[in-house]
Amino acid sequence: MPEIVVDKLTHTFGKGGANPLTVLEDINLTFESGSFCSIVGTSGCGKSTLLKMMAGLFEPSDGQMTLDGDVIRGTDRRRGMVFQQDAVFPWMTVSRNISYGPRLRGASRQEQAEIETKWVEMVGLKGFEDRWPRELSGGMRKRVDIGRVYANDPDVLLMDEPFGALDAQTKERMQADLLQTWRQSKKTVIFVTHDLEEAIFLSDRIIVMSARPGRVRHIEDVALPRPRTDEMRLTDEFIQIKRKLWGMLEH
Ligand SMILES: Nc1ncnc2c1ncn2[C@@H]1O[C@H](COP(=O)(O)OP(=O)(O)OP(=O)(O)O)[C@@H](O)[C@H]1O
Ligand SMILES: [Mg+2]
Repeated sequence: MPEIVVDKLTHTFGKGGANPLTVLEDINLTFESGSFCSIVGTSGCGKSTLLKMMAGLFEPSDGQMTLDGDVIRGTDRRRGMVFQQDAVFPWMTVSRNISYGPRLRGASRQEQAEIETKWVEMVGLKGFEDRWPRELSGGMRKRVDIGRVYANDPDVLLMDEPFGALDAQTKERMQADLLQTWRQSKKTVIFVTHDLEEAIFLSDRIIVMSARPGRVRHIEDVALPRPRTDEMRLTDEFIQIKRKLWGMLEH
């Protein structure tokens, strides 16, 4: 499984133009193979920008990112991204959305059907297989999105506030499912969230960013044992981490 290294990365939108905006400054990070890391920070500090660059959607203005030693350039199936805004195809049913990646790669009808069954169930959309995205709620569309990325079986999962639009129960179930999927597959997960509790519950490490231009302000190693359980959310250790990180976020 791959390791991602971010090396002296700075990004300025509109560099050289009339209104340059430096969004990320001197970011140095290593995401170990198979680890679960979260990134937290106030709105506008550059979290989505960082994740999109990891996906290969555009290149940093300075510095670089590598995956297993190779500079990241362009998108690749090995790096799957769940975007902050849902990105379902409105002209495809739930099932067809989920099997989109495998279909593109030439998976047989039977393989596609198996993948659809597995991931429709995993994201809790059983019974909605043949519905159109317009017939779904915002949270359900988000789950289609997540299913589609999982179904692609990437090595690195880049998730940008994937559970932000979900109700508390669905969110907790999706968190538990994600941890189970991660434990089984040992993917490298990089997870952006505003929700500190979510970050602590899921992660090995939490990267706290400063306000724009985003810099790495603090890295917290979460020593809670695995597998994580809901009861852990109420322990002193959990609450202490939450209090500490809360104080670091610029409100
Ligand atoms: N394509 C772009 N062109 C110019 N500026 C951009 C572009 N994309 C983002 N920005 C700016 O970069 C800054 C960081 O945006 P980004 O979306 O990375 O923040 P974020 O940390 O993900 O915030 P949020 O928590 O609200 O999602 C913002 O000030 C935004 O206006
Ligand atoms: Mg964002």
